[in-house]
Amino acid sequence: MVESSFQSKLPHLGTSIFTEMSLMANQFQAINLSQGFPEFDTPAFLKSAIKQVIDEGKNQYCPSAGLPELLQQIGDLVQRCYIKDAARKLDALNTITVTSGATEALMVAIQTLVRPGDEVIVFDPAYDAYEPAVELAGGRCRHIAMNAPDYAIDWSLVKQAINDKTRAIVINSPHNPTGTLLGQSDLLALQQMVLEHELYVISDEVYEHMTFDGQAHESVLAYPELFQRSFVISSFGKTFHCTGWKLGYCVAPEALTTEFRKIHQYVTFCSFTPAQFAVASMLKNHPQHVDELSGFYQQKRDVLVAALADSRFKVLPSKGTYFLLLDYSAISDLDDVAFCHWLTQDIGVAAIPLSPFYQAEILEVYHQKHKVVRLCFAKNDATLLKAAEILCQL
Ligand SMILES: Cc1ncc(COP(=O)(O)O)c(C=O)c1O
Repeated sequence: MVESSFQSKLPHLGTSIFTEMSLMANQFQAINLSQGFPEFDTPAFLKSAIKQVIDEGKNQYCPSAGLPELLQQIGDLVQRCYIKDAARKLDALNTITVTSGATEALMVAIQTLVRPGDEVIVFDPAYDAYEPAVELAGGRCRHIAMNAPDYAIDWSLVKQAINDKTRAIVINSPHNPTGTLLGQSDLLALQQMVLEHELYVISDEVYEHMTFDGQAHESVLAYPELFQRSFVISSFGKTFHCTGWKLGYCVAPEALTTEFRKIHQYVTFCSFTPAQFAVASMLKNHPQHVDELSGFYQQKRDVLVAALADSRFKVLPSKGTYFLLLDYSAISDLDDVAFCHWLTQDIGVAAIPLSPFYQAEILEVYHQKHKVVRLCFAKNDATLLKAAEILCQL
């Protein structure tokens, strides 16, 4: 038993809002549009590939950095999607590391970079994995609010926040929870600051293949100078509807990758071997899956947005990810956590409040201004239509 005097390294952390809302959704049999995972199945090819690999006995450790054929397939994908200059060749074997989900890649990248006393800039609303990792490394996060309702980054605020302790900036595009995208001007502003102040970037791009209305994802991988100081992180769980396989990767220049791998080998050594074989085969045999993903999710977004047209919610634009924000200020005065509890318990639809994505100080300002919740539309159309029908009655 843990002594009551035990000093927690993360004293203020409790159960995450995602766990809490999913538990509530189950308890009250609500339609669960809260936690971000697909309701539909992993592609049939991928499922049979992993079964075959397991039957063939490929069940032992693989190289710590990842299965070479998977590293090569990821390299080809990155090259095809982001590297327009044919002369620029990504050295897949020395710059890519396969990890146990993007979560592991984020933790390892942050432990690689952050030293005691360092500051890391994050933008609120921020995904919840960044800050605990920074704190465990002995650093602290400097939170900067994105400007609601369009959730743009004010780069002049970033400039003001940079000081001699600043070590890194975390970006996330397409963005969870807001569904916004960073554009070319954002990446150029970031690049300018990173180069000037010799900072590093952790770029969380797990929703990279889900962008809508013809807009392309601006990856850090497309900016060679910026990439020299970056860890770019992605997740096959998002791309191939297999979040439970926990397979992701990190792309970084060779010198940073060498340091990243030192930590990765002692966090997990290597990630689940059969999934690596299966995903390598999927990328090789079904490259169109990645290209079709944006269209697939855009259709889902459009189903949900159209079905909510007659509701009293104000739908904020979703330009990427599988999330949509709803402003409920015309419906209720409750704060967003209380509103989500009520929505789940009494109305039968589970959503995620935005306030847990904010630092307390920023939240005070935010709460007086906004009443916004997040829905996940990675669900079957019937589920989305049923949820929207209920929400239209409010
Ligand atoms: C922004 C963001 N980053 C990282 C992750 C974690 O990805 P993985 O499941 O591959 O660990 C998620 C998952 O929801 C996410 O939304």
